[in-house]
Amino acid sequence: MRLIKAMGSQDTILATVETQGFCFIDHNVLDLDIKKLRHWFADYFGPHANESKYKDVAVFAMDELSENRLVKDLLKKIVTLTDLTSANGFYLDKIWLVHSLPRDEPSDSLPYVPHFDKHRYVKVMIYLDDVSLSDGPFHSLSFAPIKNEEKRLNLSKNYKYNGENTVKDISVDDFIPCVGCSGSIVIFDTNCPHFAGSINGEGHRRVLRFDFDNRMFHSRARNVFSRIRSILGQSIQHDKRIRKNIHQ
Ligand SMILES: [Fe+2]
Repeated sequence: MRLIKAMGSQDTILATVETQGFCFIDHNVLDLDIKKLRHWFADYFGPHANESKYKDVAVFAMDELSENRLVKDLLKKIVTLTDLTSANGFYLDKIWLVHSLPRDEPSDSLPYVPHFDKHRYVKVMIYLDDVSLSDGPFHSLSFAPIKNEEKRLNLSKNYKYNGENTVKDISVDDFIPCVGCSGSIVIFDTNCPHFAGSINGEGHRRVLRFDFDNRMFHSRARNVFSRIRSILGQSIQHDKRIRKNIHQ
């Protein structure tokens, strides 16, 4: 690997994402056939973009593309590179096809300002175009995701309106723009502060994004369920003991 920003040379990608929030490889490390991917993107983006609530995005649940040969092969390569495996608790939740163009929206709102997400994922983004500063590169901070976990779990219902997930105390100059050629990959934990760069002039970017969920990201719910299970378990054991005593 030629360049991996915010990554120690000895660390795996997953270890780097755990400690520093993101990992960026600024070249076609997966040896992807970019031309073929762009054709596939065009076939799937157009018909589905209108169904999405975001005008520049086509969203697919995993089961919609699970038999798609190109996606299967690509996913295999991503998992091998990143270790986002089921053994590590990860499972693919959805795939986004994003085609971003310059827009009139103000760039002082989400997703153009530093923030972290309410729903935690490890996201893998593959650039299908060369992305320069004018093409709205993804920006990330080097930041341990665990530091935002408590904050994320405590976000209120109106967190967006209240700006609870925006990051105001860190300068945008501290964020690293992920600028690279087509085939470049960003792997990042959404607990890590990040933002989308604004697209200027003729700029644009097509991105394939894979959202990996992990059961550990739902620890609070998991804890509640395990408590319920434990209480139910105790009560079943208690019932068994009582029945045993009755039969004796
Ligand atoms: Fe975000």
